Amino acid sequence: MAENASTVSLLPWTEKYRPKTLNDVVRDDSAIDIIQKFAKDGELPHLLLHGPPGTGKTSTILALAKELYGDNFTSMVLTLNSSDARGIHIVRDEIQSFASTSRPFANFFKLVILDECDSMTKDAQFALRRIMEKYTYHTRFCLVCNYSSKVISALQSRCTKFRFAPIRRDTMRRKLQLIASSECLSITEESLETIVRLGEGDLRKAVNILQSAHLSSDTRTINDDVIFATTGNMDWRKVDGLLHILLSDSLKNIFNYLTNLRAEQNFALVDILAPLCDSLFRTHLPHDVRTCFLRALADVEYSLSFTSTEKSQMLLLISTFVQKRNIFTLG
Ligand SMILES: Nc1ncnc2c1ncn2[C@@H]1O[C@H](COP(=O)(O)OP(=O)(O)O)[C@@H](O)[C@H]1O
Ligand SMILES: [Mg+2]
Repeated sequence: MAENASTVSLLPWTEKYRPKTLNDVVRDDSAIDIIQKFAKDGELPHLLLHGPPGTGKTSTILALAKELYGDNFTSMVLTLNSSDARGIHIVRDEIQSFASTSRPFANFFKLVILDECDSMTKDAQFALRRIMEKYTYHTRFCLVCNYSSKVISALQSRCTKFRFAPIRRDTMRRKLQLIASSECLSITEESLETIVRLGEGDLRKAVNILQSAHLSSDTRTINDDVIFATTGNMDWRKVDGLLHILLSDSLKNIFNYLTNLRAEQNFALVDILAPLCDSLFRTHLPHDVRTCFLRALADVEYSLSFTSTEKSQMLLLISTFVQKRNIFTLG
């Protein structure tokens, strides 16, 4: 379907801002430069692109295919997502018939992209191994996955492997800033940083957070309150504040603070444990003290599953912290 302005404006931003060329793919290392060189030379080994989600694997291979084939993309490229079709029949039927038929442009190889191939069955992977070998003269394969360990070693050894690492913070920030400017959004450096932190190296997740925050905001201004409200995450400054109080204040004050915080933010006590754990890593504490509190958090989580009332859960969390901190005389 031809893209026009209105269909583009309805797209999720992850698609609207999907890189169209290899140059648009943001990168922190040389992997994409090497892939770009393959495109320039018109030579391509079988590829295995692996790494965590939202790092540009699918975008890279699609951009490469567009650069290689241009208008002939549809006749020369077969794109399959193995999450939909994981079994051996897809290899025997669809891939084999595509790979074995003659090429419309005889001097160029065809390309089979197998996205999310780590969810292919082992049988399908073994069958693919033979097909890769048989048609290697005029077909190249690009396997894309999150976990290369789930791809059989016989396939791995036939491919040139590129690992896509989580995207660095400054790289994410630049890309988000670019999208915010294109969408005429006003966002502070601080809130950009909040999205980058929540994105955890996954640019898809970060772009989705930016769009959700924009959709739930009445103005074109994005701030931390909107971001935390749309993602359901606790504001970590408040979590850091809670940790500080847990480590230093009186039992009564901790109880009051936690009660107010829960009324204000409406979270279940068990949901605060993971943010508290992150906060323990952010806070400067001696190694053995931090280890002791991490252990305490694990114990609290375990015990919470046997403790039914909200109040006793809270008392359990507070008393565990106070008890442990007394060992180190932190309070
Ligand atoms: N390296 C990148 N450069 C530019 N955009 C990216 C990159 N990685 C992810 N994105 C954004 O996230 C979306 C999903 O990326 P995708 O390539 O499908 O990730 P993956 O296949 O690694 O899970 C893209 O449409 C784009 O908006
Ligand atoms: Mg992908």
